[in-house]
Amino acid sequence: MQLPPLPTSFDIAREFPISRRWAFFNHAGVSPIAARAAAAIRTYAQQAEEDAYLTGRWYKQAERTRTLAAQLINADPKEIAFCKNTSEGLAFVANGIEWHAGDEILSTAVEYPSNVYPWMDVAQRFGVKHIMIPEHDGRIDIAELLAAITPRTRMVALSHVEYASGYRNDVAAIGALCRTRGILFCVDAIQSCGVLPVDVQAMNIDFLSADGHKWLLGPEGLGIFYCRRELIPTLRPEIGWMNVINAQDYGHYDFTLRPDAKRFECGSYNIPGVLALGAALEVLAEIGIPTIWNRVRALTDQLVEGLLKKGYRIISSRAENEASGIVSFASPTHDHNTIVRDLESQEIIIVMRESRLRASPHFYNTAEQIDQLLVALPKH
Ligand SMILES: Cc1ncc(COP(=O)(O)O)c(C=O)c1O
Repeated sequence: MQLPPLPTSFDIAREFPISRRWAFFNHAGVSPIAARAAAAIRTYAQQAEEDAYLTGRWYKQAERTRTLAAQLINADPKEIAFCKNTSEGLAFVANGIEWHAGDEILSTAVEYPSNVYPWMDVAQRFGVKHIMIPEHDGRIDIAELLAAITPRTRMVALSHVEYASGYRNDVAAIGALCRTRGILFCVDAIQSCGVLPVDVQAMNIDFLSADGHKWLLGPEGLGIFYCRRELIPTLRPEIGWMNVINAQDYGHYDFTLRPDAKRFECGSYNIPGVLALGAALEVLAEIGIPTIWNRVRALTDQLVEGLLKKGYRIISSRAENEASGIVSFASPTHDHNTIVRDLESQEIIIVMRESRLRASPHFYNTAEQIDQLLVALPKH
């Protein structure tokens, strides 16, 4: 398949210096930050060192990051809060809802732990039932998931893309059903935001959380949390000095919570993280998610084709609506740890997850880099 072109002015080596040396295919793990994100942190460091009075300006710039994050998922900026990571955003939901004994949370048995332990905690504390649907051959059967809905189902909590299989759940279909049944829908979108189209309105998503350090190409420690406008007043936030309407009127205590998603932000921001994420989101917006996904789709198709020729078993579904940026595969004979180590010695990065091999290229990777990986992998 032809790789959709990048703008001619886009210099891959300049925008992603990692590509000068490494064939890096672990964007589902921790990504290199975009060069422009790195530049934003350097500028911040210099300003913080020399002109600390810029605090006000940084907080204004933070609103640009919020707007870009909102645009990425078709939300209103008033529905976006900054969070430390995906886990914190999910914890906002787990700790913010008033749970009742007998409520049911429906999820899968192959979630990343950040989308498991908060629900186990809620189950322990409030007598909520946490139901986990298993995976079959790298897929979640949506019919099986939906069949597990009962009149007590209070929330469906799942990943848009599952981290170990790369399986893309049909969140639009699940969200539509949840909305008609009055069930809350909470999505861990760290494996989709920045690579696949995400539309919280079209997908009827109520809560979404995604850290910046994977497909968003930002640094660790700064994520985005989306809460549907109508639900903001229903979620009890962790309280600090900033959640209130007159946060900067320090001495006049007025405990009136903000009406927008900033009510979930309890204190000072991770400013370098916010500025860097903003710069990374500018890069993604410039290329556009459709082009990003078409490139990743073409690169992963090329990879899958080559892997099959070399005798590997593909675990990830490659169906049109189930594929993602993650390709999980297995060797019938070779030791996976040895493969990962050997590739690293050739400056090629893939990882092992749940004993599978996992490669996750991003839009700036090239067809030549995929060939490099295919040549370096042992055959059968
Ligand atoms: C699906 C999923 N959720 C969450 C995380 C990590 O969450 P956090 O941003 O809290 O570190 C990962 C990391 O691998 C993940 O794959």
